[in-house]
Amino acid sequence: MKRTYLSIFCIAFMGTLFLSAQEKIPQVEELLKKMTLEEKIGQLNLLTPGGGIATGSVVSEDVETKIKAGNVGGVFGVSSPEKVRQAQDIAVKSSRLGIPLLIGSDIIHGYKTTYPIPLGLSSSWDMELIQEGAKIAAKEATADGINWNFSPMVDIARDPRWGRIAEGAGEDPYLGSQVAKAMVNGYQGEDLTQPNTMMATVKHMALYGAAEAGRDYNSVDMSRLKMFNEYLPPYKAAVDAGVGSVMTSFNDIDGIPASGNKWLLTDLLRERWGFEGFVVSDYTSVNEMIAHGMGDLQAVSALAINAGLDMDMVGEGFLTTLKKSVDEGKVSEETITNAARRILEAKHKLGLLDDPYRYSDESRPEKDILTEENRDFARKAATRSFVLLKKHDNTLPLAKNANIALVGPLANSKNNMLGTWAPTGDPQLSIPILEGMKNVASEANITYAKGANISDDTSFAKKVNVFGERIQISDESPETLLKKALDLAKSSDVIVAVVGEATEMSGEAASRTDITIPDAQKKLIRELTNTGKPVVLVLMSGRPLDISEEMQLPVSILQIWHPGVEAGNAVADVIFGDYNPSGKLTNSWPRSVGQIPIHYRMKTTGRPGPESGEFQKFKTNYLDSPNSPLLPFGYGLSYTDFEYSDVKANSKELSSTGTVTLSATITNTGDYDGEEIVQLYIHDKVRSITPPGKELKAFKKIMLKKGESKTVTFEVSPEDLKFYNSDLKYVAEPGEFEFFIAGSSDSEFDGSFTLKD
Ligand code: BGC
Repeated sequence: MKRTYLSIFCIAFMGTLFLSAQEKIPQVEELLKKMTLEEKIGQLNLLTPGGGIATGSVVSEDVETKIKAGNVGGVFGVSSPEKVRQAQDIAVKSSRLGIPLLIGSDIIHGYKTTYPIPLGLSSSWDMELIQEGAKIAAKEATADGINWNFSPMVDIARDPRWGRIAEGAGEDPYLGSQVAKAMVNGYQGEDLTQPNTMMATVKHMALYGAAEAGRDYNSVDMSRLKMFNEYLPPYKAAVDAGVGSVMTSFNDIDGIPASGNKWLLTDLLRERWGFEGFVVSDYTSVNEMIAHGMGDLQAVSALAINAGLDMDMVGEGFLTTLKKSVDEGKVSEETITNAARRILEAKHKLGLLDDPYRYSDESRPEKDILTEENRDFARKAATRSFVLLKKHDNTLPLAKNANIALVGPLANSKNNMLGTWAPTGDPQLSIPILEGMKNVASEANITYAKGANISDDTSFAKKVNVFGERIQISDESPETLLKKALDLAKSSDVIVAVVGEATEMSGEAASRTDITIPDAQKKLIRELTNTGKPVVLVLMSGRPLDISEEMQLPVSILQIWHPGVEAGNAVADVIFGDYNPSGKLTNSWPRSVGQIPIHYRMKTTGRPGPESGEFQKFKTNYLDSPNSPLLPFGYGLSYTDFEYSDVKANSKELSSTGTVTLSATITNTGDYDGEEIVQLYIHDKVRSITPPGKELKAFKKIMLKKGESKTVTFEVSPEDLKFYNSDLKYVAEPGEFEFFIAGSSDSEFDGSFTLKD
């Protein structure tokens, strides 16, 4: 009897909690009462005015007319306080209910102060830095009138053929979740009504990074177990951090495109994860369900709204067909009201319903955008993103008075510094490597020659040059380019070759089947090493590359991604030793495309690969390649060296309510002060579903002076050992857990502890 009362009480109490969590906002409800069905549908329409902006009018005629008619809930591609004020004016003064607009934008790695591409930023493993970057981006973007950002992109990606690997944080769900949270917190701050914070959008929900064969927009087919344990955690982390909106992906999931997938958008996102914001489609992804084979525009629009999608980006399927679907009983009016409510609630959260001009302060751009402080941040962020892949003969760091031949098609290029998805940045403001080196080492003698084209293939260059000349094919022959570089090299003491990928060789719709450095540059690299002079390769790319050949050469290699607006200065800071590189890879780099998909969290299989790496028949291995990647996840060198010792657990047992402390002592044994990213991996030895061979569970970045030692500790609780079992329940199962603490994922286990019942 008592129990029954208790449970009734509990249910009632939980019901109140649920209601209060979903509490209706009176201002929004009042508005909804006044709205016609058409006006509600109008709120679900997101447009981009495109060309209209450049010619001076805020929006093109069409968009303007639609805003006046109450047919638009938000726009993107409009910026500056004046233009945003004009756009809001049209909405507020000329539409019947005067509802302000969401003003969206893609601010992926900095607004006008462009930082390294996200894959680069993730290589810093520095969550404070990443959060600060998002905060500064929000300050700059809101100064320019934007209140809603289409970032963070948190798609787990394990296939470097996929060009959009550049936009995310790599292959690991734990690290990816930390980055997702840091970015949401950075963009949104603590109070979205503040004029220097903006609403974030986690994208692309879901599994976009697992596109088959690394071909953009391709299908995805994945088990629920893999989704829950490996691909979904970063989206969930963003939702848990309070992200305001979610963007769907282009791919299908279990045979239903994400934009029309009810399991994904309602059962999982809203019901299981408790997401209370709104869901926006990707660019025309509702319409694209027609090509997916899901029916005509009316059918796919109804599918989308019934699945839980609230806002239709650009395609206008909602605007043009939903009323008809309501009339025909295919969509309920309540469904439309709920979606409109979510859009209005977002506007309420941003403070727009109280003040539509909150983000239209004309005095802000000059104070807040591209300030010296922001550029200093971009420079610092870039230095932290670089990964030293190979050291040779202590060539690095270079002396500031060295006699340097700087060569390579990316050594003096403004056009390739910002990286993919930087539409708000201006390449002309970026510092090329040549300029940066001269800034930092004015005493050095630096001579420059291009040496090679990024690629000699004109048809390839044409595909890459869609947004401007990223691959510039010289009028001089490849032979002349090479000869000039070799002549310089011969009269120098050291060669710095800046090589790799042009900006648009990665990013959206930029998949590659060959992920090596293009031939024209490979040849240059070989010839440079043949001179016998010390060679430093400064490698730029938007993805992990296959650098098997270059790793064999007598060269030092510094991976710099696409470093952003302060590229040259940051590169100079590192190669001249003002900052000792500390970045670590967030993807495994393969030996060849044949190993893809490759990641460190692979399962052992029932026939584990031989530890020696030697081929063994009837084991999981290749005839023509080791299983291991060329460079493992978590890998990255420093000018100094670190030694790990005394790795231990403070107890052999962990109770279901307790913690175990795992620790290691790290000593800087080299000649420079430096930072190290200390990583903890565990292996769940026995459990109800096959475990990965190892999993990253925690990391800390520490500074160690030359000769200094520090002990790093990690508190591990049963919560950290949880995974989704075959019932998709999140559980920790008792048993033995091995662990190691090291500077990369490639290490032996140091010890173990047992989780008790
Ligand atoms: C991309 C999104 C982006 C959107 C709007 C799409 O093509 O997939 O990431 O936010 O365009 O620009």
